[in-house]
Amino acid sequence: MPAAPQTVTCRGERFRLYLDEETIQSRIQELGAQIDADYADVDTPPIFIGVLNGAYIFTADLMRAVTVDCEVDFYKLSSYGAAKVSSGSVTLKKGIDADLTGRHVIVVEDIVDTGLSMRYVLDQIAEKNPASLKSASLLRKPDGLKVDAPVDYLGFDIDNLFVIGYGLDYGQIARNLPAVYILDEDEA
Ligand code: IMP
Repeated sequence: MPAAPQTVTCRGERFRLYLDEETIQSRIQELGAQIDADYADVDTPPIFIGVLNGAYIFTADLMRAVTVDCEVDFYKLSSYGAAKVSSGSVTLKKGIDADLTGRHVIVVEDIVDTGLSMRYVLDQIAEKNPASLKSASLLRKPDGLKVDAPVDYLGFDIDNLFVIGYGLDYGQIARNLPAVYILDEDEA
């Protein structure tokens, strides 16, 4: 892997390298192994429900780190827009087609900040009577949490600052950065 730049500029603000590709990928392999062990003996393949847009890259990499049979579908929720703070409300943009009754579901988020999005999706899916319901998130900001939003498969707890890259955007830009960058504190 080519070395990631130490800093990037996005929408005129400076971000510094926080989690490089290798660190992210090796943690994902660990999470994949954990999921393999947990779902080795289930009767139906687990289904990953990725939360768009931010979690599309993590969902793809996490699935490929798993070797048990598995399926995927996606929810789409409202985004931050061009802001760096949560709007405090969650709007559903796209639900899912799959019947989740009796299924083993793993909700996949890119990041849990206030926890409102994860809570919302977990509550929605719980109503569909799954056989089991777990959650995964690449990142979590423990200082941002406002509601109970459990994460069974967590990549990293991070500082309470805005991050971009690896699926996470700033006004829709920067999702394609292979590493995670955090707002330089001088800019916060
Ligand atoms: P929550 O509902 O506040 O937990 O936020 C969840 C969603 O907000 C995530 O799925 C992201 O799309 C977005 N988000 C939260 N924190 C950040 C961040 O630091 N950078 C980019 N997007 C974020």
